[in-house]
Amino acid sequence: MNTYTWNVDKNVDIQKSYPQIRQAAELLQRNEVVAFPTETVYGLGANATSSEAVRKIYEAKGRPSDNPLIVHIDDKRQLGDLVAEIPASAYLLMDEFWPGPLTIIFAKKPGVFSDIVTAGLDTVAIRVPDHPVARAILHETNLPIAAPSANRSGRPSPTTAHHVATDLTGRIAGIVDGGPTGVGVESTVIDCTVTPPMILRPGGVTAEQIREVIGDVSIDPSLKEGEGAPKSPGMKYTHYAPEAPVYLVEGNVQRLQQLIDRKQAEGMKVGVMSTREAASDLKADVVVTCGSREDLSTVARDLYEALRHFNETDVDIILSETFSKEGIGSAIMNRLEKAAGYNYL
Ligand code: TXA
Ligand code: MG
Repeated sequence: MNTYTWNVDKNVDIQKSYPQIRQAAELLQRNEVVAFPTETVYGLGANATSSEAVRKIYEAKGRPSDNPLIVHIDDKRQLGDLVAEIPASAYLLMDEFWPGPLTIIFAKKPGVFSDIVTAGLDTVAIRVPDHPVARAILHETNLPIAAPSANRSGRPSPTTAHHVATDLTGRIAGIVDGGPTGVGVESTVIDCTVTPPMILRPGGVTAEQIREVIGDVSIDPSLKEGEGAPKSPGMKYTHYAPEAPVYLVEGNVQRLQQLIDRKQAEGMKVGVMSTREAASDLKADVVVTCGSREDLSTVARDLYEALRHFNETDVDIILSETFSKEGIGSAIMNRLEKAAGYNYL
């Protein structure tokens, strides 16, 4: 399959890019899959009302079909046609965080979505992305668009069109290149069908921010399993992973350097993922800088690019700094622990 690429500058009036947006929208309307930028990561879009279209997402990604997809819409006023009920908590969250990196789980209206979007569940995950290119495409298709992250399953999510092309060229109809995304980690997923609402995936909107708006909120207990003590490797948990194994290192720069030295003494080429503050003090075969400790949103923004960068090197092992699980740190550590299969050194 030929994969067409359109360039769209998100910083100029989106009307100027109408021909490109129109072509991408037309492919989506014809039930093809097209990747496009959102404020979090690039999404791989398809018509959420068509099983023929949605099946192509799972095929292109190599994604297990029991993992449901997020549906993207242009305006919350469309919700009435898509969901069975809008709980009070969801109204509050939408007012505060939409458009933006928050996905809300609703009871779905029967007969609207392809069953494979929701993996057969009675619920559906929906968000309004905060990105002019995504919004223009959604507006132009006038369809609810299912869009998981536009990476091959298991690999780090894409934050540039180049990442998407690396994973999916020849497997999808098109890529809309709107430059690098901003937030860098995926949306927070919150289930508003339960009381209190439950965070199922930490992401761009923090638990602290959500609590300020709706008060009581619970956190899926399975998210806490990787906490604290080192966990045994479990392949089923490995996501967001570069080709070389990743290990997380707690403690100071000296401890990290000792571990680098030890692995090098064992004959390994060692890659390190480090914040700007520590990078110049570390000696390893490859040092990749990922944001600054002074502002963890920069770590989130650079995380997947940093993880992917190691695939262009010949390192045997990757050691990464760790972060507090407060605020956006919760999403960063969730992705890092998955990339590392919960392995700490
Ligand atoms: O930022 C994002 O959310 C990106 C961009 C492209 O919008 N999308 C994304 O989608 O990360 P995906 O498919 O990679 O992640 C969907 C997440 C999965 O963890 C899935 O299990 C959960 O949402 N999910 C989807 N529908 C659900 C449902 N009905 N109930 C519970 N979890 C659901
Ligand atoms: Mg994903």
